[in-house]
Amino acid sequence: MRQQLGRDLASHSMKTLVNLGLLLAALLGKGSCLICETCISPGEGCTGLAHPCRMNEDTCLTIVGMNSLGGDDTTETLKTCIAAEDCYSGSISVTTNAGLHLQSISSCCQDDLCNRWELTLPPTNLTSNGLQCPACSVFGSSHCKGTEMLNCTGTDNRCIMVSGMLNAGGLPSTFTARGCSTETACSLPLGTALYSAGVIFNLDKVSCSPAPKATESH
Ligand SMILES: *[C@@H]1O[C@H](CO)[C@@H](O)[C@H](O)[C@H]1NC(C)=O
Ligand SMILES: *[C@@H]1O[C@H](CO)[C@@H](O)[C@H](O)[C@H]1NC(C)=O
Repeated sequence: MRQQLGRDLASHSMKTLVNLGLLLAALLGKGSCLICETCISPGEGCTGLAHPCRMNEDTCLTIVGMNSLGGDDTTETLKTCIAAEDCYSGSISVTTNAGLHLQSISSCCQDDLCNRWELTLPPTNLTSNGLQCPACSVFGSSHCKGTEMLNCTGTDNRCIMVSGMLNAGGLPSTFTARGCSTETACSLPLGTALYSAGVIFNLDKVSCSPAPKATESH
């Protein structure tokens, strides 16, 4: 139906480089389906076409994610249509051992093109805040022993343990990590594909406790 309309418009009136998405946005703006901006790009922010969402997609998502899973920090912005129940909104930070750090900010909204606005990641604060957590990370297992202690930084005031599946563009792998996080990371949804800068997480367990004060190490 949408495609047919698109084809008709294209063949009858469009010989110029009009953005078909924007035209559809104008035509379908009232009712039928939601229109979101869709794009994916390295860095903070991207601009893309206005895209009519599928029937089950009632929400526009913007997520700016940063992680150091590939060695260097990778930042990426994704804007897309999504179902409300799969949309996670908020700002999270998780740091585990070996300098592994993940940060993201995302927002969900439900009006046409409401995800045109840019989001920016809060600056990474590397100053210790006097709290500490056991830290470890492991692939291929749903357990890891946090024998190493990590000094928490910035606003990370929770000790977190997450496990689930992680897919960084290859085969999905089980993973488990412990470390410091913001309180917001403790309410990450389970059993949902969470995307952040090239990595898809599907968490089956998240547990948190308040981070205790750091003790002097000798
Ligand atoms: C960074 O984190 C430390 C420890 O929590 C805090 O004292 C400091 O104010 C933060 N700096 C900024 C710029 O937010
Ligand atoms: C962690 O914090 C404690 C207490 O503030 C300090 O004694 C220790 O040197 C810190 N460890 C590292 C690796 O920075």
